[in-house]
Amino acid sequence: MDKLLIQGGVSLKGEIRIAGAKNSALPILAATLLTHDTVKVCNLPHLYDITTMIELMGCLGVEPIIDEKLNVEINSSSIKHFNAPYELVKTMRASILVLGPLLTRYGQAEVALPGGCAIGSRPVNLHISALQAMGANITVENGYIKASVQGKLKGAHIFMDLVTVTGTENVMMAATLAEGQTIIENAAREPEVVDLANCLIAMGADISGQGGDTIVINGVDELHGCTYAVMPDRIETGTYLIAAAATRGHIKVKDTQPDILESVLSKLEQAGSEIKIGENWIELDMHGQRPKAVSLRTAPYPAFPTDMQAQFTALNSVALGSGSITETVFENRFMHVHEMNRMGASMRVEGNTVIVDGVEALMGAPVMATDLRASASLIIAGLVSENETTVDRIYHIDRGYECIEEKLQLLGAQIRRIPS
Ligand code: EPU
Repeated sequence: MDKLLIQGGVSLKGEIRIAGAKNSALPILAATLLTHDTVKVCNLPHLYDITTMIELMGCLGVEPIIDEKLNVEINSSSIKHFNAPYELVKTMRASILVLGPLLTRYGQAEVALPGGCAIGSRPVNLHISALQAMGANITVENGYIKASVQGKLKGAHIFMDLVTVTGTENVMMAATLAEGQTIIENAAREPEVVDLANCLIAMGADISGQGGDTIVINGVDELHGCTYAVMPDRIETGTYLIAAAATRGHIKVKDTQPDILESVLSKLEQAGSEIKIGENWIELDMHGQRPKAVSLRTAPYPAFPTDMQAQFTALNSVALGSGSITETVFENRFMHVHEMNRMGASMRVEGNTVIVDGVEALMGAPVMATDLRASASLIIAGLVSENETTVDRIYHIDRGYECIEEKLQLLGAQIRRIPS
């Protein structure tokens, strides 16, 4: 298994480009199953999760055509199977996103039930109950969600008990081809949901309210092909900015979208960064100063994202003062804290809050990643350590960060991959 070797102590400086958003690309790839026409998806990030979704298409009998820029053309008219096997679902929970499209387009779908993962139990009960409200017959047998519908799904008024991103996406996709109107209340407002809605609209869907907490979808008879470019990745953007702030650096990230990062940029300003923004770039300058500790609470968009909690925990570890970080979205997303304490951080977990007393610098150590964002936070911890850190199990990072060591090298970091 590959590892990352980091020699800490360098302030990040320079410019990098941000890739397309993983969590927008995955549902958009699933949405290509909703039409027999060709859909061309551009600005896909080079990530394992994207490869897994393309592999899943292959299992269904669909053969995506990929060009050298990783633009993908998908024509699902060759579909032969309606089954997402456990072997793929266990490596990528987002495979659940094919459930809604397969069911609404073909009247049948079998998707392995995703289990818990390193950050929480993560049930999909709300996906299932919403599709049942739309007339689907769904059973869970032998570890598989087996769904079918006679004729078409029916539009329904759905109230989501919790804000769920992929739940909202699954139901929105299913509703595009349902009979009549579907209203999703307490819908997720995440920019990735909006990006999916915009792609579906480009395919001919009738959707309004995306970005708010009530989404209205009027079912249409069929969708058509389109060319769609995935939005920039706000979590990748935030991760590099936090890394620059933690290392007292000065960087510019390009090809990004500042207006969807407000909660994160405001915390970075509280930490002492000077932030400048343009239409598609963000520049952060710490003027060589140590960051100040910040307190935050994660919650669904537009509040502070859970996917950036671990990285801010790493920033607080070397900040001036104390900060408290409360996680309200997932029940077990503090695994990185114990690894950072092994590196000399001073953190204690109290319920769903971690209280961090900043120290001057961490000490390098061998550490192990447990999930994607925890891996990113351990890399930041390595960058602010006095000597060498090795981060193990970096397959997690390759699922969600494109060429992370090359991008960090461009910013001056001393980081390299050690093949196993
Ligand atoms: N939940 C339920 N029942 C459901 C669905 C969700 O109880 O049927 C709970 C979850 O257990 C969790 C909360 O609701 O406590 C929110 O989960 P959500 O469904 O919103 O998460 P998700 O859709 O599975 C997406 C992202 C995650 C991101 C979360 C929260 C994708 C592919 N994944 O997951 O991204 O953390 O939303 O914003 O979009 C990542 O990229 O590292 C990542 C984990």
